[in-house]
Amino acid sequence: MTNTNAPLAVIVLAAGQGTRMKSSLPKVLHRIGGRPLVGHVLDTALALGPEQVVVVVRHERDLVADAVTGAAPGVLVVDQDEIPGTGRAVEVALEALADFAGDVLVLSGDVPLLEAESLGILIQAHRDAAAAATVLSAVVDDATGYGRVIRDADGAVARIVEQKDATEAEAAVTEINAGVYVFRAPDLRAHLSLVGTANAQGEKYLTDVVALLRDSRLTVAVSTATDAGAALGVNDRVQLSEAGRLLNARTVRRWQLEGATILDPATTWIDVTATLAPDVTVLPNTHILRATAIATGAIVGPDTSLVDCEVGENATVTRTDATLAVIGAGATVGPFAYLRPGTYLGDKGKIGTFVETKNSTIGERSKVPHLSYIGDTTIGTGVNLGAGAITANYDDIAKHRTEIGDEVHTGSHNVFVAPVRIGDGAKTGAGAVIRKDVPAGALALSVAPQRNVEGWVENNRPGTGAADVAAKARSAQKADDGSQEEGR
Ligand code: UD1
Ligand code: CA
Repeated sequence: MTNTNAPLAVIVLAAGQGTRMKSSLPKVLHRIGGRPLVGHVLDTALALGPEQVVVVVRHERDLVADAVTGAAPGVLVVDQDEIPGTGRAVEVALEALADFAGDVLVLSGDVPLLEAESLGILIQAHRDAAAAATVLSAVVDDATGYGRVIRDADGAVARIVEQKDATEAEAAVTEINAGVYVFRAPDLRAHLSLVGTANAQGEKYLTDVVALLRDSRLTVAVSTATDAGAALGVNDRVQLSEAGRLLNARTVRRWQLEGATILDPATTWIDVTATLAPDVTVLPNTHILRATAIATGAIVGPDTSLVDCEVGENATVTRTDATLAVIGAGATVGPFAYLRPGTYLGDKGKIGTFVETKNSTIGERSKVPHLSYIGDTTIGTGVNLGAGAITANYDDIAKHRTEIGDEVHTGSHNVFVAPVRIGDGAKTGAGAVIRKDVPAGALALSVAPQRNVEGWVENNRPGTGAADVAAKARSAQKADDGSQEEGR
């Protein structure tokens, strides 16, 4: 009796506190790959195209419910009551699925790495076996903490026993329950109501349904995961980082197969929401996070962190920390640059060494090469700012803008006291403090002319090394001047 066309509903368990995380944040909201654990599970659930997805919440229910409906608007959020345990969680979800009589896939909000493809295989195995339930198992090196799959003499699953209720012999079993199952809804309903709470944790275990179904002479099948790592459950922060590393390895590999050169997968972290075009090169120790998109030919890293950034074709970004920045095609950034939100760097532009930018547009071919702070500024095209340019954008009360036209070249160590405008083609002298607008094509000088007080060191610092060498240099200069005089 293969009912291949049975409708599918998915129940996601996300009501637990996650005590072992020792966190004020609910466990399923901890993130890997830039997304909460439960977000990964929902993505996978939706990829299966089910009729309905139900998420069970309780601990910090509003926080979890908001995250769930934000990520997947169509899902139904159901509240678990005070009766604890995965069995009770599924029971309340089933109540919300009133007359549903198809197949129910149960997923754990803390098992984030299973992919739709392997769940498809699980569902197919369930249907092929015409089973009342099919358990996803995995054979692991260290089964500590998981429920164990206990098989009978015929090799069929007899029951699942939790770590805390296991005898020594049962605890030695290395085949674990992944916490993921397919059930025929009517059979699940009928047997869940029989589950008690007489166990080490005083909870209504979903896993107890397995033995109850067997008691009713119904078939319980097991599908063993080919990739045991994907069955990893996150209960503590050690497992959280492990899951994060496995997910990252998968993401890095995916982009490598799409044509990105990634030198060191172990130190490259890419969120599931980021995108890399073919022929991007990523150097070691680089974090590509959130909605960052890197265009073809760009070279990013080493030691770089990009959060919600756009990097243009053939741009180079070296030893840089950037958030919400847009970097144009062929532009160069770094080393040691700090791009804060609202930075737009035009095509072939440059933000160089020890430069901080914020809420500023730097036009095409314009350069801020060294030791600068550029905030609330608009810079035209073909501009070169001298080393040490500072925009003084804040007067203790409000932020003001600096506007710099096209083809402006400024001297080293300038301060632009905003609000101020520099006209097209203008120039400024070294050390200028620009407090007033500079007209197009003007040279702005604000530093007093240099005055040399001859002999000051010998007169005021007699007997010092400086005075001695100055006296020698001055008499040599005099002799030299004298001989030149004679030669005339
Ligand atoms: C569970 C399984 C165990 C399996 C493991 C796989 C049970 C009794 N045990 O153990 O056999 O090997 O997962 O990872 O099912 N939850 C609720 N309501 C509750 C309790 C839990 O919704 O009252 C949710 C949690 O938020 C979590 C999931 O169910 O997402 C699993 O709960 P957890 O307490 O982590 O179960 P484990 O001890 O890992
Ligand atoms: Ca768990």
